[in-house]
Amino acid sequence: MLWSLAKHWRHLNHTTLDIIDTLVRVEPQGAFDLLHLIELLLAVHDAGLSSRPLSSLVAEVCADSPPQSVVLHPRLTGLGSGSIGEMAALSVLAAAKRPTSVLEFGTHEGCSTWHLWANTRPQTRITTLDLPTGMTVSGSSDVGLHGVGSRPFFPKDPRVRLIETDTRHWTPDASFEADFCFIDAGHTYECVKNDTEKAMSVMVPGGLLIWHDAAWSRDSYGVNAYLRDLRLAGHQVHLVRTGPYDYSALAVLTVT
Ligand SMILES: C[S@@+](CC[C@H](N)C(=O)[O-])C[C@H]1O[C@@H](n2cnc3c(N)ncnc32)[C@H](O)[C@@H]1O
Repeated sequence: MLWSLAKHWRHLNHTTLDIIDTLVRVEPQGAFDLLHLIELLLAVHDAGLSSRPLSSLVAEVCADSPPQSVVLHPRLTGLGSGSIGEMAALSVLAAAKRPTSVLEFGTHEGCSTWHLWANTRPQTRITTLDLPTGMTVSGSSDVGLHGVGSRPFFPKDPRVRLIETDTRHWTPDASFEADFCFIDAGHTYECVKNDTEKAMSVMVPGGLLIWHDAAWSRDSYGVNAYLRDLRLAGHQVHLVRTGPYDYSALAVLTVT
């Protein structure tokens, strides 16, 4: 953490350092959170991907009738769900897209699944994949999040289908199609490549593909490296910018 702070010293002005100094003295956990937030923001800054405002993405996704409202769960985020801004942006994009079939990689407690469910129409089907309870796998990231014991947010609705498997062993049915996909399972290069290629194989043209953690490149995270490679291959991947005071490392691509 301190090494990272030193590395990015040039980005910090004296006011920021004063705030950190004060926090370290009066509230160490607050200082830790602030430093981590700075690291996350710097990762977005250095992500090597251009960003687009959420409002312009929404205008593109639904030119005639943008959503009038979105729904957020009262707990806002679950374990491993990222920031409130990201959960809100995911909800907005789902509401704007009005998908028929949603595919999600990485259910965990079901918080993002809940937001996808609450912000889509009653006829929308949601298929979400995660490891079975108690299973940990190698070659993935965040082993501490693997195989969660309960999914307290998971919507009890027959239109949501949970498939418990390692996504690297999942083969979609030949007839399966999706027009909205959220990728947030294993974050290694191998896992995100697998999940993206499987998503692209079932997505219809015009479908919206969204990745979580598109900027972080430590802790064996390879999403950023993979997305940079997708850019080099000609795919128009952009980070989603929510607002000047929010952390968002969602990335989005409209499938052609
Ligand atoms: C960051 S959590 C997902 C958080 C969730 N999308 C949310 O926002 O509430 C990542 C999940 O991916 C799962 N996971 C990791 N590697 C996986 C793999 N190879 N196959 C299936 N699931 C995997 C983990 O079990 C964990 O539950």
